[in-house]
Amino acid sequence: MSKKLRWAIVGCGVISTTHAKAIQAAPSAELVATCDIIPERAQKLAEEYGASYWCEDYTELVKRDDIDVVSVCTPSGLHLEVAEAAAKAKKHVFTEKPLEITKPKIDRMIQVCHEEGVKLGCVFQMRTYANNKAVRQVVQEGKLGKMVLADAYMKYYRSPEYYKSADWRGTWELDGGGALMNQGVHGIDLLLWMAGDVESVVAQTDHLVRDIEVEDTAVAILKFKNGAFGVIEGTTSVNPGQGARFELHGNDGTVILRDGKIAAWHVPDVPQPGTEEESGSGRAHSDPTAITATGHIFLVEDMCQAIFQDRDPYITGESARKAVDLILAIYESSRTGKRVYLD
Ligand SMILES: NC(=O)c1ccc[n+]([C@@H]2O[C@H](COP(=O)([O-])OP(=O)(O)OC[C@H]3O[C@@H](n4cnc5c(N)ncnc54)[C@H](O)[C@@H]3O)[C@@H](O)[C@H]2O)c1
Repeated sequence: MSKKLRWAIVGCGVISTTHAKAIQAAPSAELVATCDIIPERAQKLAEEYGASYWCEDYTELVKRDDIDVVSVCTPSGLHLEVAEAAAKAKKHVFTEKPLEITKPKIDRMIQVCHEEGVKLGCVFQMRTYANNKAVRQVVQEGKLGKMVLADAYMKYYRSPEYYKSADWRGTWELDGGGALMNQGVHGIDLLLWMAGDVESVVAQTDHLVRDIEVEDTAVAILKFKNGAFGVIEGTTSVNPGQGARFELHGNDGTVILRDGKIAAWHVPDVPQPGTEEESGSGRAHSDPTAITATGHIFLVEDMCQAIFQDRDPYITGESARKAVDLILAIYESSRTGKRVYLD
């Protein structure tokens, strides 16, 4: 009989049910504990998904010796404090995107997990979908030739009520940004994963419509390390929201992804993949709760296997930080009016 790893979820809001479903569905995981500062939320999640323990203080939760992995589902700017407490108690850390919202906090999260000898995995479910993997593969193998343009367009809708639905949404302190740091971070991570690292960026961001501190709209011009140019457009203020679009062009080929589906495939000698993959993004461009658990299930099981096999998880802290580093560079460029170079 294969061993199951015992998982806890800290933060029992919108995304926590996707974690609970994924932990339930993954063959090597079981949910044993939940935690939220709002105790009713912790209790409800525990009862619905069969966890035997719930509490309102994660510092108590991490003291338990019947927990192996902690899913961090708190507001983005509170990921580090939970991750650090878990790591110091020798629990593996599986955190929601974005990893954290500032460079020093990300440095610390990676460092403490390393020092304590625990795994650090991050959720970017778009990296698990077959079409996205196929596109990455042909770009990385040079099948499109020399890369010329790599673009991500994320034109979403979030209502005024969405920003009022929790105090932390739309704040610098806990959301760390808006259309890019919260919603667009998925697509930015995917763009970097498919097309490679960015060398520099020039950008403009603002809140054009919503009454929030952070940006609801952003545009950025990228220069990739491989020499290509690219564009990022992100918003949460167009109605109706559109599915994300990724356009990758080289001097030998072109691939376009629209809402998770392949909309154009011109790749010499490589047939278009036949998958009509579960994109999970069905209505998520307009409804933040419309997320399927497929990607989370893959990532939860992978995290378990990474622990069993003592290997890196599918999405490491080091690779998950790249999207945040680029978003922070975009914000800096917008603030200063200058081109910003990434480290
Ligand atoms: N992968 C995805 O597609 C996806 C989708 C939604 C959210 N997320 C990420 O998940 C995280 C949570 O987002 P959400 O929409 O579920 O937020 P939410 O506000 O619905 O839930 C957050 C929960 O954390 C609780 N909390 C706050 N401080 C806490 C603490 N110190 N200890 C324990 N619990 C605490 C809150 O009471 C709340 O119930 C964010 O980082 C967000 O970016 C990812």
